[in-house]
Amino acid sequence: MSSKRVKKILSQMTLHDKVRQLMQINADFVKHDIGTSATGVSGNMNLSAEDIFGVGSVLNIGGADNARSIRERYLKKSQNKVPLLLMEDVIHGFKTIFPIPLAVACSFDLEIAEQCAAMAATEAAYNGVDVVFSPMINLCRDARWGRVMEAYGEDPFLNGEFGKACIRGYHKGGVACCVKHFAAYGAAEGGREYNTTDIGEHALREYYLRAFFECLKENPEMIMTSFNLLNGVPVNGNKHLLVDILREEWGYDGVVISDYGAVVEMINHGFAESEKDCAKVCANNCVDIEMMTASYLHNLPALIEEGKVPQKIVDGMVERILTLKEKLGIFDDPMRRTDSQKAKETCLCEDNRQLVKTAAMETFVLLENNGVLPLKKTQKVALLGPLAAEKNILGAWACAGRATDAVSVLEGIEKLLGRRVFYSKGCELDLFSTDESKIEEAVQTALQADVAVVCIGEHSYYSGESASRTEINVPSVQVELLRRIKQNNIPVVAVLFAGRPLVLSDVKQLADAILCVWQPGTEGGNAIAETLFGACPSGKTVCSFPRSVGQCPIYYNCLSTGRPKQEDVLGGPKYSSCYIDQYNSPLYPFGYGLSYTKFSYGKPQISSLTMKHGEALEASVSVTNCGDVFGKETVQLYLRDKFASCARPVKELKAFCKLSLKPQETKTAAFTITEEMLKFYRADGTYGAESGEFEVFIGADSTVEAFATFRLCL
Ligand code: NOJ
Repeated sequence: MSSKRVKKILSQMTLHDKVRQLMQINADFVKHDIGTSATGVSGNMNLSAEDIFGVGSVLNIGGADNARSIRERYLKKSQNKVPLLLMEDVIHGFKTIFPIPLAVACSFDLEIAEQCAAMAATEAAYNGVDVVFSPMINLCRDARWGRVMEAYGEDPFLNGEFGKACIRGYHKGGVACCVKHFAAYGAAEGGREYNTTDIGEHALREYYLRAFFECLKENPEMIMTSFNLLNGVPVNGNKHLLVDILREEWGYDGVVISDYGAVVEMINHGFAESEKDCAKVCANNCVDIEMMTASYLHNLPALIEEGKVPQKIVDGMVERILTLKEKLGIFDDPMRRTDSQKAKETCLCEDNRQLVKTAAMETFVLLENNGVLPLKKTQKVALLGPLAAEKNILGAWACAGRATDAVSVLEGIEKLLGRRVFYSKGCELDLFSTDESKIEEAVQTALQADVAVVCIGEHSYYSGESASRTEINVPSVQVELLRRIKQNNIPVVAVLFAGRPLVLSDVKQLADAILCVWQPGTEGGNAIAETLFGACPSGKTVCSFPRSVGQCPIYYNCLSTGRPKQEDVLGGPKYSSCYIDQYNSPLYPFGYGLSYTKFSYGKPQISSLTMKHGEALEASVSVTNCGDVFGKETVQLYLRDKFASCARPVKELKAFCKLSLKPQETKTAAFTITEEMLKFYRADGTYGAESGEFEVFIGADSTVEAFATFRLCL
């Protein structure tokens, strides 16, 4: 329900005022009066000055001073004086950049995710941002897709939990946010960007929509639709998804925005014949804002006239946008919190740097360690590899973050040790480089030291939007660097940078330890240095690391098949569901991560062998830190519904907690299992639990074998 003020503003608008509100363009148009010649994906949008100074929102602002001048210029020139909404891709930080979302999820720490989002929101708000295009919660099971770095891994529950934490943080920090991309974008065939998705209704609801539904509980102001075709119909043209499910079944009454150019891309999809067609379909599906194309602007008046789009629908779209403006307070104060001075004081301040360093340290996953880590400060260290001195370790979508403000591993280690270390780059970072000419120099450098710390992996250019890959390995020249150091019997610690779970089968053979640091953000180098020299890593993977790319898509929460492989031996047995040349299991499973200490688990306990309607069970396990250093352990609870009207995954994460344990300390991890956690989309399409046997696994990762059993009796 909209307010009196919104109703009044709406009643004073002409039809052209209204359709302009539905349009979003790049802020440059307003900044520089670029009129008729927008190029690129959006082509020529043919905008008049009245159009530009009448649009409802802009994106890509570029800081507080720009924001102020955009707003002022707009208000001076616009006819109806309805202030603009300013939107920005604040994905993992505004200027102080925290690790990429995929990494944040590996922390299994919702509190830190919320704090980071709140920090980003505060920086963004002082810089004039009203709405951030985040969180992105697209489930992805195929690491070839470059945008796997932007979401929270292969588990729908985890995507929902981190999405909600992020929304809470953005709201605390005073910005509105946009959950994206609705929906199923992460299921792109072959992991190829913008590719088709084909997903049955059951899998769509059960896996791909769950996190979106969950996130609505935190009242995000906006939802962005995705680029893909879903079951033959482009998402923006998909009434089933946008109207039947989102608006009617879920009752979502916030703003829906298209992705960049996606409304008109329906012509390329072979779905709409003309821009007019695009406008008709999208408006009828209540896609409220058209990003960077002008089909609404040029066609909605005629479509209303012809009775093909009801005026009521357009009024509803504008009303939702005005309601958001009112909620944010921009009618009362168009400048809101935009403040260059505060922006300068807040961005990259010591507290924010400290927060992103702590966050980064929680996200690192120790994949291998034969005892070489942690390093001792007295050891002679050679720092090698193309990412050792690299400052651009922010990750894709780093918004206003600058590499010059970031701390490289070299800087971090030298600061921590208070002395210079041996350094040699060894090879180039480029994905396609084959130049081995600098490797020998790196080997000679390594020979002067006790241990080689080799910083390798994927530069942030090689993940993110439009960065799908077919070979998701560490480039061969970097592997060669490791091989040559190893041949000289020097202990090798691989510090692995990545925007996706890479295939590490060769790296595993050559490294004494692998610390996966993802794309760690502004304070990456300091966080890595502290971890290498003693701070105990506690991150756990949220995506399966394939042994070879042919295993993709690979995910722990899979279905059993009619011929499950009993024991994961290589190449067999024949006529079971397996490959003849590879294991079924990933190299590193979901939930996995080592520590500098060791944890032992007791047997999982449950409070009752049966659960009736409305009841809950308590499940617990004791965990002991058996080592002699402090450590944190993420305890994970998985359920398996053994028989159901639709086959259920072999395991599903339903709860987790992170324990801090002193040496020799034992704690109990306790969880409540409710009927809600047992519900799923049943064969008849309804949502609910079914009577029968459930297994409760509690352990250190998704391969946990120990379980307790209970029966649900409804
Ligand atoms: C395209 C991306 O898919 C989306 O995530 C982003 O928010 C928009 N562009 C705006 O930059």
